[in-house]
Amino acid sequence: MAEAFNDLILPAAKAERYAAVAEEIAAVLDGEPNLVARMATVSSMLASSFEHFFWTGFYVVDEAKGDELVVGPYQGTLGCMRIAFGRGVCGTAAATRETQVVEDVHAFPGHIACDGRSASEIVAPVFGPGGELIAVFDVDSDRPAAFDGVDKAWLERILARTFSGAG
Ligand code: SME
Repeated sequence: MAEAFNDLILPAAKAERYAAVAEEIAAVLDGEPNLVARMATVSSMLASSFEHFFWTGFYVVDEAKGDELVVGPYQGTLGCMRIAFGRGVCGTAAATRETQVVEDVHAFPGHIACDGRSASEIVAPVFGPGGELIAVFDVDSDRPAAFDGVDKAWLERILARTFSGAG
């Protein structure tokens, strides 16, 4: 089904929908440098665009600790506060700097269950303009195997454009 931002009706096909949302996110954030505002806007607009995204948001690198993530702007039910690098899906994405696509969270070693409805998830690393890891972006779905290469490619593209100044 199509959902809308203002007057924009989103396309039904996933890649086209991501393309439309990516343009909307870039337009809304044009000229806004504040990182919290940028993260909150990305979370809100992506969560509103896909009905099966039930937890959509950021875990940011805790500068004081260096190897720990702390919850940042998100949409959804209460998330865990802190995740050590290497723990669960988010911590693995942070430690490896690689996007994790998990078809079945229950089969992922060390998965952290913040909400029992989570069935599958994708977590992408977020890099700043200097290529440094600043956060990870986590989307959880109540549907099994909800994420594939299309989600990976588009989320990485949106995150690069929004936080690295790329593309
Ligand atoms: N599923 C994540 C934990 C964070 S939440 O689900 C919001 C993980 O295993 O990294």
